Amino acid sequence: MTATPPLIAPATRPAGLPLLVLGRGSDPASERGVDCPGSLPAASDPDLVARATAAKAALGERVFVLGHHYQRDEVIQFADVTGDSFKLARDAAGRPEAEYIVFCGVHFMAESADILTAAHQKVVLPDLAAGCSMADMARLAQVEDAWDALTDAGLADAVVPVTYMNSSADIKAFCGRHGGAVCTSSNAEVALEWAFSQHGADTKVLFLPDQHLGRNTAVRQLGLSLDDCVVWNPLRPHGGLTPEQLQAARIILWKGHCSVHGRFTPECVDDVRARVPDVRVVVHPECTYDVVTKADLVGSTEFIIKTIDAAPAGSSWAVGTELNLVQRLATRHPDKNIVFLDKTVCYCSTMNRIDLPHLVWALESLVAGHEVNVIEVDSDTEAWAKVALQRMLELPAGPARG
Ligand code: 13P
Ligand code: SF4
Repeated sequence: MTATPPLIAPATRPAGLPLLVLGRGSDPASERGVDCPGSLPAASDPDLVARATAAKAALGERVFVLGHHYQRDEVIQFADVTGDSFKLARDAAGRPEAEYIVFCGVHFMAESADILTAAHQKVVLPDLAAGCSMADMARLAQVEDAWDALTDAGLADAVVPVTYMNSSADIKAFCGRHGGAVCTSSNAEVALEWAFSQHGADTKVLFLPDQHLGRNTAVRQLGLSLDDCVVWNPLRPHGGLTPEQLQAARIILWKGHCSVHGRFTPECVDDVRARVPDVRVVVHPECTYDVVTKADLVGSTEFIIKTIDAAPAGSSWAVGTELNLVQRLATRHPDKNIVFLDKTVCYCSTMNRIDLPHLVWALESLVAGHEVNVIEVDSDTEAWAKVALQRMLELPAGPARG
């Protein structure tokens, strides 16, 4: 039987479009969007929980399972630790004795874990189709073009590139090479403060790839004005900006976004306030500026969890982030009224790619001595990405946001 060909052959696919339709075809040039090799257990198999339990027990201390807060319940029950992307990056680095880190999250998180773990450790992503559409909105060639334009405008020497964790390893390496750093949603404020202090008053920041996290942090937390921000559109010549606009800007925001958080609108906030008496609205900073401005509290997934855990019984909360997490919070706190900010279902489809069949397959393969779906960043990229990640890990702890 011949293998199913990719829907668009890699050679003919337009540059900057790395993803195949999820789970279809194969692409040797990309780790994402490929078929699962081997035989995946059926989702209907009643023994999946028992199989995952047995495989994990057989691996013992050799395996450490990390679970991002957006993972399904069926997967999160097998996580040794759960966390936001900042906490998971630190946790991955803090387990040198584990031979395998099974990362239940998305591709950029597994790459970061590979960069931060020791050379003898292997990071496994149970489904290689678990990418992040936001991370794919900034491709290295595009970022290099933007940097060339900043150089031509005589500005690059005073620009500090800062990339959100939700970016590929080569973008992190770009930031490391050019004096920049990585940030996450829980430390974007201190990371931007650090960046703006690098070249005195002339400093500009190139913020990749999430324009909303960049704008929300720069304007709401650092006190910049909306006019200090410009948006670089990689699909337009010169980013769609004139040299004068670049010259005047303090922060250049990459035109990227999260389509999951983009579903929350200011109307969702108005609507829930009209429906639920005394409701408090807490949202993730990947939401648009208009939504964040209307919310009561803003913060990372870890912040959202801590806020709701600490809230008094009887309080009402509308939560603007991924649905798996919101449902888990509602189940954990039956004494609190927890509702999803949008009226329609809003899962992150790529986070949801990691399901119990893939986890069982990955764990059982490791038990059988087959290393599958190992995420390995090449050594040059790894070295520079590590520089940018270490700069982040060395930042002072920022304020817990509200
Ligand atoms: P956190 O850093 O808050 O975990 O968010 C990661 C993410 O992908 C949100 O969409
Ligand atoms: Fe990426 Fe958005 Fe999914 Fe987070 S929620 S992994 S930013 S697509």
